[in-house]
Amino acid sequence: MKVTVFRLGHRISRDKRISTHVCLVSRAFGAKDLVYSGAKDSGMEESVSKVVEQWGGKFSVNYEKNWRSFVKGWKGIVVHLTVYGIPVQEKIKKIEKSGKDVLVVVGGEKVPPEMYDLADYNVSVTGQPHSEIAALSIFLDRLMGGGELMKRFPGWKRKVIPREKGKKIVEK
Ligand SMILES: C[S@@+](CC[C@H](N)C(=O)[O-])C[C@H]1O[C@@H](n2cnc3c(N)ncnc32)[C@H](O)[C@@H]1O
Repeated sequence: MKVTVFRLGHRISRDKRISTHVCLVSRAFGAKDLVYSGAKDSGMEESVSKVVEQWGGKFSVNYEKNWRSFVKGWKGIVVHLTVYGIPVQEKIKKIEKSGKDVLVVVGGEKVPPEMYDLADYNVSVTGQPHSEIAALSIFLDRLMGGGELMKRFPGWKRKVIPREKGKKIVEK
């Protein structure tokens, strides 16, 4: 099972930071890549590739102009994270057991109503409004069963050495 994250409706000025964090969470928590729609943002793409170059792994970010045809053409399961969906704890086993590649869709300020119909599963992470970053983190952790915490990032140039106190980074 491979996981791709789809970030709907990116806006350069308002979402730069939050979309970059969606990319970084996707990478750190085991997604293969991220695709985004809305405004094409080369600056965001470059800042994520710099992280990949320095910290390793094969994560990539790609732009898709037509979100609808991309979602419709997905070969696998489409999971849309939304506060209005079915609680993640009730759906995660079914999604995981399918063994199919998963497209995890997160929204921005406004999610087109059609997205709810295109999704195989509309899934909530609590019934409280919060953020795409938090929802994505919890969803990926549940989907990976915690295995993403041990993920390795081959080809790294920088790596943190965990310490009780202070900071240690090794550089190649
Ligand atoms: C700040 S919210 C805005 C949602 C927007 N008002 C709409 O039209 O649905 C941005 C994104 O965070 C995610 N999100 C926020 N709260 C969530 C929750 N409780 N469960 C799952 N996803 C959530 C969803 O992907 C949502 O599209």
